[in-house]
Amino acid sequence: MAGTKRGVMRALPLLLALIAAQEDDNGEERASLLLYKKVTPSTDLTIGKSINVTLTVYNKGPGSAYSLMVTDDNWKSDKFRIVSGGNNFTVDFLNADDKYEHEFTVKPIRKMWHRVRPARMVFVEFSDGEQTITHLSNSLPELRVSPKKDTLGENLLLAGRVLTFNVIKTKQGWMVAAFIVICLVALQLHVIGSKVLHKRRHLRALEDVKKM
Ligand SMILES: *[C@@H]1O[C@H](CO)[C@@H](O)[C@H](O)[C@H]1NC(C)=O
Ligand SMILES: *[C@@H]1O[C@H](CO)[C@@H](O)[C@H](O)[C@H]1NC(C)=O
Repeated sequence: MAGTKRGVMRALPLLLALIAAQEDDNGEERASLLLYKKVTPSTDLTIGKSINVTLTVYNKGPGSAYSLMVTDDNWKSDKFRIVSGGNNFTVDFLNADDKYEHEFTVKPIRKMWHRVRPARMVFVEFSDGEQTITHLSNSLPELRVSPKKDTLGENLLLAGRVLTFNVIKTKQGWMVAAFIVICLVALQLHVIGSKVLHKRRHLRALEDVKKM
């Protein structure tokens, strides 16, 4: 019995320390925030195709958070255009169990592999707080941006491969084929033309003979 009591007495300071961690000197509760970054779509990206970036802040409580400032400086002008919304935003306060969602749209302007860095958030825990807390979002896999796809051209080439039993696979192949066809047609016309001429000459000669 005495042993149990001693155990409780020993555990008590630890318990008090845990409670203290949730509160400041004035007994205010602390906020526990989560910043989530999402990019849609994240595959099959091409130059000029819009990408939505969503930044969501969750406050898991138990306290409120104040003066939140989120910066997502991951979309520099040498790689992207920000076409709507802004990559930075602020929120005055976020109560426990609330969330705040912010969305903006970017367009890649060149072919690249792009490393998606975490967004960064700073906030204070108490309305009169001075000490800012910094928090990073999740990070995401690299984005691959490829040049615009010529799907019509690709489909035509695919049809061509089927029609030519896989002999002609490329645009160059079709150009060579077209050149050969034009040459054959020209040759054919030449042959027909000379035959006609020949016949006409023959007929004229025949008439001349008749006249004599
Ligand atoms: C991006 O956001 C806009 C506006 O909310 C929406 O209309 C569009 O469908 C979204 N695009 C994607 C790929 O989620
Ligand atoms: C966003 O915030 C970052 C860091 O403070 C800053 O360098 C950048 O210029 C801001 N971007 C815009 C569009 O305001």
